[in-house]
Amino acid sequence: MDHFDYRDGVLYAEDVPLTRIADEFGTPCYVYSKATLARHFRAYTEALGSHPHLICYAVKANSNLAVLGLLARLGAGFDIVSVGELERVLAAGGDPAKVVFSGVAKQEAEMARALEAGIKCFNVESRPELERLDAVARRLGKVAPVSLRVNPDVDAGTHPYISTGLKDNKFGIPVDEALAVYALAASLPNLKIVGLDCHIGSQLTELSPFLDALDRLLALLARLRERDIEIEHLDLGGGLGVPYRHERPPQPFDYATALLERLAGWPGSERLTLLFEPGRSIAANAGVLLTRVEFLKPGETKHFAIVDAGMNDLIRPALYQAWQAILPVDTRHARDTATFDVVGPVCETGDFLGKDRELAIAAGDLLAVRSAGAYGFVMASNYNSRPRPAEVMVAGDEAHLVRRRERLENLWAGEALLPDVADGEA
Ligand code: LLP
Repeated sequence: MDHFDYRDGVLYAEDVPLTRIADEFGTPCYVYSKATLARHFRAYTEALGSHPHLICYAVKANSNLAVLGLLARLGAGFDIVSVGELERVLAAGGDPAKVVFSGVAKQEAEMARALEAGIKCFNVESRPELERLDAVARRLGKVAPVSLRVNPDVDAGTHPYISTGLKDNKFGIPVDEALAVYALAASLPNLKIVGLDCHIGSQLTELSPFLDALDRLLALLARLRERDIEIEHLDLGGGLGVPYRHERPPQPFDYATALLERLAGWPGSERLTLLFEPGRSIAANAGVLLTRVEFLKPGETKHFAIVDAGMNDLIRPALYQAWQAILPVDTRHARDTATFDVVGPVCETGDFLGKDRELAIAAGDLLAVRSAGAYGFVMASNYNSRPRPAEVMVAGDEAHLVRRRERLENLWAGEALLPDVADGEA
């Protein structure tokens, strides 16, 4: 459930009409709902109840400081994949002791900064990474807490670009090799084994792949115990899907209940802390992309609604053929209905936000692209020299600008003319 609803024909974010946000902050503009973010986060913590757990929000889904700060205040930990994400978490008041660091290519400087900050755990994805981490920790006189990200080879049944738990994917350590790599980790003096983790993919709409992955991790855990390697936490990654259209993914409650049931017979499971790294299920339906129709362009075979947001603002439809609902913001005007491709200003045929949408709209109308709170702004680019949009967070009847629209001069701020041109030479 989210807090984007129509009231008297106008789409609201909580108690603020989106028309007001467009007037105040312009378009295109991302709009987030604080209450929705909080609700989605609490769905996880409440589902896990008294079982020891930590919800490490996947920063990559939406890394705006206001989002991170809100989740930090609610007690969230964070799953990061770069030092940039770590610095964001710290800038937002997040607790480094609740941070897990994922990613296949952590650099030495990133490891060093994370060790200095005192993060909870490095999710290590390969043997050479383990050796690099040990060396960095030794240089700093520290012991690095590690978990191995195991690739359980289960099919998440999702889009190939966001499926990560198959043998063919670059992620994680193959489950058959994990025992040997744990033995290596145990032998390296500047590492401390604390966890075991996996992340099998994103936008999963069934529980069975998660449960298959859990079974494989538990089998591995048993073999680790035989070798006196004890684990404090089990991290099942992120990946729970959201309803974009007709999908009916399980709720965090169903997910947690099924996992806890499966764990119940496991000796010592009540002491095993469960970690999750949800991104999309917390942020996606807590945000919309607000855009204005520039022109309607009727065609012989297709009608186009050309809007002021493009693939550089929201790339999911172009990149994954993702379907996201597109709603008119103000339905109080009488308009004819037609079928439109909703397209952006970018000079690419792939620049669309939605295809074949039944809409009753006119030029100048506002549209809201739903489910845009995750993998929206964070994947935005400046392609076609378009400044990235503003971000606004609604809380009750207040709308806060949480990132101002980029200015044109930001676009070339880090660039330089060649010296002879700058000197005015021919
Ligand atoms: N943990 C790890 C190690 C991950 O790689 C990811 C996502 C997550 C957690 C969070 O997964 P979530 O709960 O959000 O499914 N840009 C794509 C999604 C890429 C996901 C990458 N990894 C999209 O827009 O659909």
